[in-house]
Amino acid sequence: MDNRPIGFFDSGLGGLTCIPHLMDVMPEEKIIYFGDTARTPYGSKAVSTIRTFSGQIADFLVSKGAKMIVIACNTVSATCLDELRVRFPDIPVLGIIAPAAEAVARTCSVSNRIGIIGTKATIASGAYTKLIKEKNRELEIYEAACPAFVPLIEEGIITNDIMDLTIRHYMDAFSMEHRIDTLVLGCTHYPLIRPNIERIYPGFRIINPSEEIVNDIYSTLKERDMFAGENDVDNVFYASDLSENFVKMIDRIFDDTRSRDDTRVRVKFKNLDIDSI
Ligand code: DGL
Repeated sequence: MDNRPIGFFDSGLGGLTCIPHLMDVMPEEKIIYFGDTARTPYGSKAVSTIRTFSGQIADFLVSKGAKMIVIACNTVSATCLDELRVRFPDIPVLGIIAPAAEAVARTCSVSNRIGIIGTKATIASGAYTKLIKEKNRELEIYEAACPAFVPLIEEGIITNDIMDLTIRHYMDAFSMEHRIDTLVLGCTHYPLIRPNIERIYPGFRIINPSEEIVNDIYSTLKERDMFAGENDVDNVFYASDLSENFVKMIDRIFDDTRSRDDTRVRVKFKNLDIDSI
């Protein structure tokens, strides 16, 4: 048994979209989360910058006793996974792209037309296509970068025409030209606009990496005998700029969870000056 928290991080609030799935499957597990809200978005930055930021954050999570690092960010998973694994040889470091690629290969056939949307850095890395093709070379895969989604989502501009128009700007031609029928939300912020996408493109089957990674967390903890037992460890959410939106999003996630299971969820928020890491 291992009651230390699981460390999650993202450039902002996107990685929070993994948490409800984790709590459904492994309700005893506790979380230490870092959202780099002061420096988001990562997806339009140079890989060397993303590498510096993600190394700092992973160091911080490990210094706080995380038993595992979950890179709840496609951009960091696409660009820095190998280095983070080398940096922390003693704890599991999980990327979010491999489990999503596995879900694509498991559930799609050659008759599917698979679209991957993500940040500029994720799409430029080609990581999704590479990992999916390793499992099935025959699948048809098309990728598109949608760099304006993350800043809008971080601002909470979601349920309105601006977001709908932005979605159409990136996806109308892309989805029509390639006759997409299966869409991978290749950025952890994107599940927050899933209702918009489903409304605009009702025919798509959607694959959500924020959900798929939970299978990987489960099997890794099981393999290493690291599941938490009942415990009163707090869930702690750090942000480099504790925005109203970030706190609201966490409240929403835990309010939903609390209604299912009242007592086990205690949450703390902390603002963390990035220079102090
Ligand atoms: N949630 C991050 C991802 O999955 C967003 C990246 C960004 O900050 O641009 O890629």
